[in-house]
Amino acid sequence: MTEKKVLIIGATSGIGYALAVAYARAGCIVGATGRRQEQLEELQAAAPERIFIRRHDVTAADNIAVVEELIYEMGGADIIVYNSGIGIYNKKIDWEPERDTIAVNVSGFAEVATWAYRYFRQRGGGQFVGVSSVASERGGGTAPSYHASKAFMSNFMEGLRQKAFHDKKKIFITDIRPGYVDTPMTKQNKGMFWIASSEKAARQMMAAIEQKKRVAYITRRWALAAWVFRMAPRWLYERF
Ligand SMILES: NC(=O)c1ccc[n+]([C@@H]2O[C@H](COP(=O)([O-])OP(=O)(O)OC[C@H]3O[C@@H](n4cnc5c(N)ncnc54)[C@H](OP(=O)(O)O)[C@@H]3O)[C@@H](O)[C@H]2O)c1
Repeated sequence: MTEKKVLIIGATSGIGYALAVAYARAGCIVGATGRRQEQLEELQAAAPERIFIRRHDVTAADNIAVVEELIYEMGGADIIVYNSGIGIYNKKIDWEPERDTIAVNVSGFAEVATWAYRYFRQRGGGQFVGVSSVASERGGGTAPSYHASKAFMSNFMEGLRQKAFHDKKKIFITDIRPGYVDTPMTKQNKGMFWIASSEKAARQMMAAIEQKKRVAYITRRWALAAWVFRMAPRWLYERF
């Protein structure tokens, strides 16, 4: 792989961490963010000369200022990955978990995605990657905002792709839709299947990004599950 500059937002654990390590091992310059400083330092220790870190909360007022600072330090970015995300089981349908999910997965995402689009347009090209989910395909009763937020991300990215076409810019938008990946987020889950390690997910994501795929299911077999979810009639899906 030619040396690329890759910014990964939400790289302190799970998929983002594995992706940061994989890109650094491939010889890329990597920018990594997240709220947990200790994890950022641990990640940086894997390749101090290639990994740049910044403490970053995507729900804070300085969301974009931090992104700008880090990209400046990296000497630019060819690929920006928005991987930050939360998903909280909310059986009681309390408001707080829904509000927090929207703040990270919707507002934080949209703020970064719009900034990234303008950054790449001004720069003459680039690639924006959003880590959505198979959950984007349909609603979900245990975490309604999680499913809805991922649908928002995927729909938003389709819009940016259309915009790039009309702007005649080489801006590639890659919508990553993982199924189950073994990470701190899924520790709470029961009844999971087709579970991939973070490392395997990162490998397949890198390949999809390199191929500039529009949409990629991780792992690939999740494309089949996504199709089944999409096709299921409403009356049946409700009982699932
Ligand atoms: N694991 C799966 O099965 C699965 C399936 C489909 C989609 N996904 C998606 O994959 C992405 C990564 O999830 P994961 O499974 O790897 O979980 P994870 O290990 O919990 O990672 C989540 C990442 O999001 C960051 N984050 C959360 N809140 C943030 C905030 N306010 N500001 C900045 N960063 C924040 C976390 O960093 P800090 O806590 O340090 O801030 C962490 O780096 C998420 O978008 C998730 O929805 C995961």
